[in-house]
Amino acid sequence: MTAVGSYLPANVVTNEALSSFVDTDDAWIRRRTGIAQRHLVADGETTADLAYHAATKALANAGLTGGDIDLIIIATTTPDNTFPSTATKLQHMIEAKGAIAFDIQAVCAGFVYALDIADAMLQSGRGHRALVVGAESFSKLLDWEDRTTCVLFGDGAGAVVLELADDAGDWGIRSSVLHSDGAYRDILYVDGGPSSNAAVGHVRMEGKEVFRHAVEKLASVMDEALSAANMQAGDIDWLVPHQANVRIIDAMQKKMDLPSDRVVRTVEQHANTSAASIPLALSAAVDDGRIKNGDVLAMEAIGGGLVWGAALVKFGRPS
Ligand code: ACO
Repeated sequence: MTAVGSYLPANVVTNEALSSFVDTDDAWIRRRTGIAQRHLVADGETTADLAYHAATKALANAGLTGGDIDLIIIATTTPDNTFPSTATKLQHMIEAKGAIAFDIQAVCAGFVYALDIADAMLQSGRGHRALVVGAESFSKLLDWEDRTTCVLFGDGAGAVVLELADDAGDWGIRSSVLHSDGAYRDILYVDGGPSSNAAVGHVRMEGKEVFRHAVEKLASVMDEALSAANMQAGDIDWLVPHQANVRIIDAMQKKMDLPSDRVVRTVEQHANTSAASIPLALSAAVDDGRIKNGDVLAMEAIGGGLVWGAALVKFGRPS
């Protein structure tokens, strides 16, 4: 993983602003989730637009152009259209003419799923450079009259560049573990979609149940990822978790026994941006100089399905 870029829509909606049209208040949202504000797309601004801005920054940071990219995967639950994929739109926008491009859907775990797929495709000879993007206009799936869900989410995009290198050594993805369990599909889902209901639908969630599964399953999958890489939690420089709720993040920090200043937290400013949340958090910590070339990162996420996973990555490239 050699470079990262991100983009947030300009429109910021604070908890106070939200309280003017939703029956909620800043104190409740902060206490239960750690969220203070979220960015929301403007009318006419789409997931492909967010992905484009994040991808062009990641490419510039890697010193590459679209023509250098062999594979584009966008993790999104909020594509511009049912088809074509948002990834093919992005391919055209960045002029990555020779790239394979497709979307994947694993909701909030989409970025760790896409990372695993892209790495496996590069390792099996399907190209040398991949662009992995998490991009969401999640606000489009929210029922703004349901205060138990609409306060939790935001919009945005983050992108990373993966590059194969002969001298990669222990750089790049050290381990990746993914899980799914459809038995829990009813605790977090959207009540619409092309084959079940013509409407796009809205997010429905049993918050307490999701919280319980998140704490338990993220701890367990992180143990598996550490074991697969033959590493201990103490070998991790940074935990870059999915940003759903600061209480879930704090539980992971405690479980891994990491100092608080080794955990990247952006949920306060971004809320939960689903598949975009990890690359957005990663980008924030790279941009402000906390994450440096050669740091070992632990990423984890869980989403509707349920689907969950973790990846350990040595960031950057040998200098
Ligand atoms: N503002 C004010 N009051 C609210 C709000 C709100 N936005 N939402 C719910 N309440 C009220 C409820 O009506 C309830 O009132 P009552 O006691 O009078 O019945 C009270 O607050 C407590 O509600 P709970 O649902 O029990 O609150 P809880 O402590 O479980 O917190 C929350 C809810 C924040 C959703 C929590 O369960 C959670 O974070 N779950 C994880 C879900 C998550 O992160 N989902 C994102 C997608 S999946 C992922 O990314 C991991």
